Amino acid sequence: MKHSLRILALALACGSLSALAADGPANWEQHCAKCHGPDGKGETKMGKKLGIADLSDAKVQAKFADADVIKSVKEGIKDKEGKLAMKPIEGLTDDEIKALIPVVRALKK
Ligand code: HEC
Repeated sequence: MKHSLRILALALACGSLSALAADGPANWEQHCAKCHGPDGKGETKMGKKLGIADLSDAKVQAKFADADVIKSVKEGIKDKEGKLAMKPIEGLTDDEIKALIPVVRALKK
């Protein structure tokens, strides 16, 4: 009995560790870079097709708030005609999305 409790405690500790270490840069690479590019300039095949904004541009960065990053990732972004330009990104926890905010901000040159 004691033994299984110790395992449980260990599992809980590991779980909270991985939440702390929500890896922004790795998730950017995995979930965002195919459109936005590793540098955020959007010079990818997808980015060009979508006419994506240059996230390394300070003027573009000034247009959205941190909360918009969370909303965009969760709900996606519609273009002027109401078509989905950026799809909601699936498979990220709230902590992981929050960890992407400094990654997005760091793209600014
Ligand atoms: C399917 C391609 C695609 C993927 C994948 C994608 N985006 Fe986007 N993103 C877009 C498009 C298209 C726009 C909006 C058009 C534009 O640039 O004006 C956009 C805009 C944004 C913006 C600026 C506008 C705003 O209001 O937030 C941010 C920040 C952003 N994306 C973050 C992310 C993050 C973080 C991820 C990964 C979790 C991601 N994007 C994944 C296509 C994508």
